[in-house]
Amino acid sequence: MLVDAETSAKTDGELLSLESIEVSYGPVRALFGISLSVGSGETVALIGPNGAGKSSVLHAIIGLRRPNRGRIRYKGHDITGLPTQQRIRLGMALVPEHRRILATLTVEENLLVGGMILPRRLRQTRANEMIERFEVLKRKRSQQAGVLSGGEAQQLAIARALMPSPELLLMDEPTLGLAPLVAAQVFGLIKELRERGMTLIVVDQNPRRVLNSADSAYLIRTGHIVQSGSADQLATREDLFGSFLGGSPEDSGVEPMAGPAVGSRKTVETPKSGSDD
Ligand SMILES: Nc1ncnc2c1ncn2[C@@H]1O[C@H](COP(=O)(O)OP(=O)(O)O)[C@@H](O)[C@H]1O
Ligand SMILES: [Mg+2]
Repeated sequence: MLVDAETSAKTDGELLSLESIEVSYGPVRALFGISLSVGSGETVALIGPNGAGKSSVLHAIIGLRRPNRGRIRYKGHDITGLPTQQRIRLGMALVPEHRRILATLTVEENLLVGGMILPRRLRQTRANEMIERFEVLKRKRSQQAGVLSGGEAQQLAIARALMPSPELLLMDEPTLGLAPLVAAQVFGLIKELRERGMTLIVVDQNPRRVLNSADSAYLIRTGHIVQSGSADQLATREDLFGSFLGGSPEDSGVEPMAGPAVGSRKTVETPKSGSDD
């Protein structure tokens, strides 16, 4: 009832696929037939210059933007017409560009908002888990989220997305505007999530850094995928991103590392097994 049963034949290991997705904003076409495939447990990097269509791809996946053509399959089901709320119930979540923290709510309230689809009691339990897991959220639990630094707000945005225990996490420029050291901490967290088997699609402005942390990658320009392959392969193709490389040289040398807020606890999310608790 939630999804179209006719398309439920699961492809081996594939969690998500986009087939020829087109997205327009009014008369302006942003995506011209995007096709991609994401395996279960895989980390996929989506790179490309500003305005290429990276956010539009993530919005199409989570249902914030309805494609005018093409098909999206998740866990073997056609979800192209499904509202965002139902996609979240099926196990996907978005860490939005610019974090979109609710500044006048407390840290804890922001987490509870992220757990909207959960039953009330579980919502509080999950919020408590997140607060335990992220040191900074614990310290600032009752403070207005507006007081958080960029790095802290990013941790809150990630924790909020993790509230419903997603299997597929979409991260839109999670290090945007962060100092290199703080950005490295975010990549440390991405590494932990990845090691725990979560499936990730990460959009980042610094191709070098995100390719370091991914299995496969797609390079997108003006709404077209112009390159795809293993992240290792693409990382050797400096010629591809010289023109839009966003990171400074010192960024590329920064090793992903676990930040103090999350590094000491090995309690990061494991994928849920389809239970809707
Ligand atoms: N809400 C919107 N209204 C009109 N045009 C938009 C909107 N969002 C994005 N676009 C346009 O769609 C294209 C792709 O944008 P976007 O997906 O945000 O790219 P990226 O995330 O790679 O920077 C750009 O040309 C952008 O100007
Ligand atoms: Mg964007």
